[in-house]
Amino acid sequence: MPTLVKSPDAVFPTSIEQIPPAARAAYYDADHYLVDGEIRRWAGERCEVVSPVCICGPSGPTPFPLGCYPSMTPEAALEALAAARRAYDHGCGAWPTMSVADRIHHVEAFVPRMEAVRDEVVRLLMWEIGKTLGDARKEFDRTVEYIRDTIEALKELDRTSSRFAIEQGFVAQIRRSPLGAVLCMGPYNYPLNETFTTLIPALIMGNTVVFKPPKYGVLLHAPLLPAFAESFPPGVVNTLYGEGRTIIGPLMESGEIDVLAFIGSAKVAALLKHQHPRPNRLRCVLGLEAKNPAVILPDADLDLAVSECVLGALSYNGQRCTAIKIIFVHQSVADAFCARLSDAVGQLQVGMPWEEGVKITPLPEDGKPAWLKRLVDEAVAGGARILNAGGGVIDQTLYYPAVLYPAAPATEVCQVEQFGPVVPVLPYVDEQEVIDWTIRSPAGQQAALFGRDPRRLSRLIDPLVNQVCRVNINSQCQRGPDKFPFTGRKDSAEGTLSVSDALRVFSIRSLVAAKTTEANEQVVSQIVSGRHSKFLSTDFIF
Ligand code: G3H
Repeated sequence: MPTLVKSPDAVFPTSIEQIPPAARAAYYDADHYLVDGEIRRWAGERCEVVSPVCICGPSGPTPFPLGCYPSMTPEAALEALAAARRAYDHGCGAWPTMSVADRIHHVEAFVPRMEAVRDEVVRLLMWEIGKTLGDARKEFDRTVEYIRDTIEALKELDRTSSRFAIEQGFVAQIRRSPLGAVLCMGPYNYPLNETFTTLIPALIMGNTVVFKPPKYGVLLHAPLLPAFAESFPPGVVNTLYGEGRTIIGPLMESGEIDVLAFIGSAKVAALLKHQHPRPNRLRCVLGLEAKNPAVILPDADLDLAVSECVLGALSYNGQRCTAIKIIFVHQSVADAFCARLSDAVGQLQVGMPWEEGVKITPLPEDGKPAWLKRLVDEAVAGGARILNAGGGVIDQTLYYPAVLYPAAPATEVCQVEQFGPVVPVLPYVDEQEVIDWTIRSPAGQQAALFGRDPRRLSRLIDPLVNQVCRVNINSQCQRGPDKFPFTGRKDSAEGTLSVSDALRVFSIRSLVAAKTTEANEQVVSQIVSGRHSKFLSTDFIF
């Protein structure tokens, strides 16, 4: 069954009233920001938010005006950073010196306040970035679970740090300490989850934070401001809104950012790092571009491979850093695989984020459908065909998914991260071609292998684990489970994130050590038994 290309008024709503009440949006004036513990009203210029969802009026489909948020100035951004630095106070502030148990209490208090605004955040995820209702709920719930898991992981870490190490005549206690002021910036495809997977570990380890929502996916943070303000001491969490170019440059150039946690493009990450005047002081935690290949071996279960590749390449319209972005299929099964793939892609339901069963939704990025069209046109000029009927059709902000075969390796779609619903498929004869491709690729995040022969799979696994950081067998590429390490080589990442790794990347080991003399043993015992220090302590968190 080919993709059903509908007329615009059959796919986009003709009025707000046509949308189920729970999913309806109204103009959201998010004119507040959080600095120094205060939710302040922004009286200056605003940035307008236009939804990728269009409403079909008498003059045709028009993107819905969704709201606005502060367009902060460099001065206001620097004020937010100053608040974070005051709260950190060179590591002497109340937050960085607070006991781990007390910091955990603050984060625990945040969770129910966050959960109270779930429906509003989920609705804004649908309207701001076109995420389906199911995926938006998943993003929210996964984030809450991540926070809970982070608390448990920190308790575990703290338990192991509560004991003393005795080595070569020394007694020491080794704990993890915060690093300073952290700038957190998440991506538009997971604006809540991937902001919080750096923000929460950074906070709980005693750092103070300024965070800027991504370009798309800003309004959904506004309902959370009261939860932050009520749960954390002044200056510990501060928000930045506005043009990245205007407000982030001055923060980096100030040299007052200790950790940059950024998930986005490699180009922007390089620019930000270079803006910092003291590069050796700056720690970076980066999640960047990826071009994850899927490899279909001759003995693959083609039905399984197709369903995983459709999920992997087209969940949330392919807008995942972990998406399968190129498929190599063995020539012997290429025709059978491509026929099933194009059929499966043709059956994906295109529509609005709140509609039951919808998989392909409007794209939030300005000009994205036209850019995808250019990629596809070039691939077609290079010898590829669009296999699925209706593939590549543009309807306002919608792009009907396109399977390209045989895509030529030199064409742009095989080289850049398309981050959209375009699936280039390439035939190969010898697995070495795939290995060579991954070696040449500037990205190195994950790969997915589909096959059954253990020897053949192993011939790919062993070289690929040194090219990427996760090889998936008979399943799509993905970040989760969140307790697994999530990282990449080359241009794909810097630092490793997982529930427990994130606690490590936002902290540094610090120790108190003494020679094991009688006098030192006595003074250390007195510090501990008198509970004079929060660091030098054997208090145990249950
Ligand atoms: O965009 C990159 C995300 O980390 C992907 O996460 O694999 O769970 O969709 P996911």
